[in-house]
Amino acid sequence: MIKTISWERDTVVMIDQRALPHEERYLTCRTYQDVIDAINDMAIRGAPAVGIAASMGIALGTLNAPEEKLKKDFYRICDAFARTRPTAVNLFWAIDRMKSRFELECVSGPNLDADRVRRALVDEALRILEEDIVANRQMGDHGKGLIRDGDTILTHCNAGALATGGYGTALGVIRAAHEEGKSLHVMVDETRPLLQGARLTAWEMHREGIPATLITDSMAGSLMQRGMVNLILVGADRIAANGDTANKIGTYSLAVLAMENRVPLYVAAPLSTIDRYTRTGRGIPIEERSEDEVLGFHGTQTAPQGVHACNPAFDVTPNRYITAIITEKGIITKPFGRKIKDIFGDSAAYRPRSGPEVS
Ligand code: MRU
Repeated sequence: MIKTISWERDTVVMIDQRALPHEERYLTCRTYQDVIDAINDMAIRGAPAVGIAASMGIALGTLNAPEEKLKKDFYRICDAFARTRPTAVNLFWAIDRMKSRFELECVSGPNLDADRVRRALVDEALRILEEDIVANRQMGDHGKGLIRDGDTILTHCNAGALATGGYGTALGVIRAAHEEGKSLHVMVDETRPLLQGARLTAWEMHREGIPATLITDSMAGSLMQRGMVNLILVGADRIAANGDTANKIGTYSLAVLAMENRVPLYVAAPLSTIDRYTRTGRGIPIEERSEDEVLGFHGTQTAPQGVHACNPAFDVTPNRYITAIITEKGIITKPFGRKIKDIFGDSAAYRPRSGPEVS
């Protein structure tokens, strides 16, 4: 299995996704700032993986914080992570989990045992990692029945092992169907501007021998029109309470074309991607990245000098275009609002504390 991120001897080690597919290089983060830089520079990316990286980064930062400043440093580090990438709610969910664990440890004894608190944060980060891998396997089990023998599945961006603790969400479902012995074919959108499809999804499929064909983003509609796609499977960065879904830019266009061509579109995401406190997609903050990512690639300018570009990293697909949402607790069908409420039940009443304002 691809090892996306791990905690090794009080450092955070991650596969450097900027170097893929040409080089399998690992990045060792020794300070929390190294982890922040890795998130900002996209050495690690993908909603669940960003959440895991942040939790490990917080643990790492607190490990190095002096006892007398433990509390102050902890919250300062959490705030620094909350300023990295605004769209994927897994980041804020993970920060909130770290805060809850920190506060639990701080109140559990008369004297603050700094070392115990530090080790508890490492433990919490490792739990977040392990739970994510389990959730992905469960999503695979729930979702694999949606794929029939002989199907061609279109996917966008990278919602694979690299975007998670391991196995993947959308690619996890594809992996599970493949492991079951189903014959399937994956159409991989290259995913401009950063080519997560071409560089990462194609790499994951190729190294596991899952048949895949790379296409440019603009080919997808035509392939659907020609009957060459049976279903679409994508991941998500934030799902609002009504099912509206933010995912990599281009997902919305795919979804509209899918409905036009009667191709079902499934979103695979863990419950940590569902933001029940943002009512609709209109409340989801969309990250705007540097125009340089659009003006060229890998340091080579492709547009004329002096031209400007815009670069929203995500878009929002309204719930009506989504056939169903695959989670670790089962498949959520319409009406999403009520069924999302049901799947959480009362026990998981989590209120967000970190992150951008929610509607
Ligand atoms: O900008 P990225 O590469 O972090 O965007 C990733 C995506 O949009 C993924 O589809 C999403 O995070 C789901 S990953 C399981």
